[in-house]
Amino acid sequence: MLELINPTYNLHSEFLDMVAEYHNAGESRLFDQNNLTLIQENFSAYIQYLENNSQGISLKPGFVPATTFWLVMNSKVILGESQLRHWLVPTLEHQGGHIGYMIRPLQRSKGYGTQILAMTLEKARNMGLSRVLLTCNRDNFASARIIQKNQGKSTSEDILEYTGKLISRYWIDL
Ligand SMILES: CC(C)(COP(=O)(O)OP(=O)(O)OC[C@H]1O[C@@H](n2cnc3c(N)ncnc32)[C@H](O)[C@@H]1OP(=O)(O)O)[C@@H](O)C(=O)NCCC(=O)NCCS
Repeated sequence: MLELINPTYNLHSEFLDMVAEYHNAGESRLFDQNNLTLIQENFSAYIQYLENNSQGISLKPGFVPATTFWLVMNSKVILGESQLRHWLVPTLEHQGGHIGYMIRPLQRSKGYGTQILAMTLEKARNMGLSRVLLTCNRDNFASARIIQKNQGKSTSEDILEYTGKLISRYWIDL
């Protein structure tokens, strides 16, 4: 059974396995270093940090409330995670949009990326949003396909100054 759940302390060792998998795949950058220390040494504080981000408590300047979800199989295997930002600010309109997602390296190309976005869109709908913005690097073909399969309509493209990469923006009506 596939579910999109709120982060829970109960899946600590499973979460550590997932972090190790990203590390082994050379994708540690997907977790920032501050969070890594918290994840390894004080997981309950990490869960509280995610809950605070969702509630808009102690946000970093310029950040908006954002809810993290875990895609979980049979209540025990974490397949990936998504983040739903509650509203847009100019930086997110430029890059980031409302929703971000990732699927752990060994679980890719099984349709989970398409499903995590579909399930996160449902959460956005329940939160009262009527449309959401998504952005992705133009050369991230899997992500572009995921957005298109979830009815994303391409709106604009831009070169990111700090990467020199082209990003695409899409709106999805809910
Ligand atoms: C992008 C990501 C979420 C894709 O997850 P996934 O579970 O592999 O996605 P799916 O299995 O649902 O595949 C989605 C589509 O992309 C296609 N696809 C998958 N990998 C691909 C690749 N390397 N190149 C081109 N297309 C690819 C699939 O064939 C599928 O299309 P189809 O249904 O027409 O066959 C995953 O690679 C990831 O977590 N990457 C790192 C983080 C990231 O880039 N997040 C998105 C930021 S915008």
